[in-house]
Amino acid sequence: MKKKLVSALMCVAMTATVLAGCGNSSEPAAAPAETTPAAAPAETTPAAAPAETTPAEAPAETQAAEPAASGDVITVGFAQVGHESDWRAANTKNYQDTFSAENGYELSFVDCDNDHAVQIETVRGFIEQELDYICIAPIQSAGWDTVLQEAKDAGIPVLIVDRAVDADPSLYTTALGCDMVAEGEAAGNWLAEYLNGEDANILVIEGSVGASATLGRTEGFNNIVANNSNWTVLDSQSGDFTQAGGQEVMESFIKSYSDFNVVVCQNDNEAYGAMDAMDAAGITYGVDGDVIIISFDATHDGLQYTLDGKITCNVECNPLQAGFAEGVIKKLEAGEAVDAWTLVEDEAFVAPGITSEYAVTMSQEVLDGRAY
Ligand code: AHR
Repeated sequence: MKKKLVSALMCVAMTATVLAGCGNSSEPAAAPAETTPAAAPAETTPAAAPAETTPAEAPAETQAAEPAASGDVITVGFAQVGHESDWRAANTKNYQDTFSAENGYELSFVDCDNDHAVQIETVRGFIEQELDYICIAPIQSAGWDTVLQEAKDAGIPVLIVDRAVDADPSLYTTALGCDMVAEGEAAGNWLAEYLNGEDANILVIEGSVGASATLGRTEGFNNIVANNSNWTVLDSQSGDFTQAGGQEVMESFIKSYSDFNVVVCQNDNEAYGAMDAMDAAGITYGVDGDVIIISFDATHDGLQYTLDGKITCNVECNPLQAGFAEGVIKKLEAGEAVDAWTLVEDEAFVAPGITSEYAVTMSQEVLDGRAY
């Protein structure tokens, strides 16, 4: 466990906080961490400035954390969204593999089960435990200022990972993830290329309400809709990034709309649910069917459906992001400044027989070469 110097004032404040948190298993309301480390807080001055939707902007740099002594275990708390999708499972495994004991870490992993209040209290618990670093994959983008201020006051660097927050960027150290707006635009650009002027009557199954992945993909796709006057978005409803949610929304769409030719699912699991609903209703989809399915994530099974021609276009969101988080932590440990924003790049894939300037044509070789 590493020890770090903190100011006398911070010690007084932290002592009160730690005493309040110690030995009280009935609070906070967060799901329990798998481990209960108790490291002294890192002393940093976070000053990051990531944009929620425009990560390509020139990054600011943060001041470095005080490095740990060589050989110290680094304690990391990860407030994960939940377990709603295959993407999330791959992302969780990636963090657990990366921040392992063998690699010199003690990871406190909490599955927040898509509950914002639980996630806030989880972060509060990490602060009380005085972990060295806190990673947050925000369930929703709003509502973060207070707890981020608490982490900043405790001197604990916070990494906002996967999704974005709309908090004051000076409250956290860095952010990393995919560009969700660009993903939405990639889907729209591919559709315009594929339809080549044909009309589109579009149904959208959105992700979880308030999540930056939902907001960004919706914004990006709508940017392209706005350029195509013969496209109509008939309806857009949340399927909560789950298969059950996707099926439920698609069943309701089928009852309300008889004339649609595009279904946009904001993740693969929703697409599986939508396909089940269309199968049950006798609606054909895919390259040989009546309805074009666009999906996001490009997880293994999603790409298998793309290879099979059922999902026509699948826009990747790369879940293997822990290495980027570890890179940030290593830099801070080395006393180096870090970028305010790190982009995790991704690409799009289309069914065999389709060529696109926006996407890779699927083949067995492409699928076999994938890591998730
Ligand atoms: O934030 C990433 C999104 O969250 C993925 O698209 C989805 O599968 C997950 O639940």
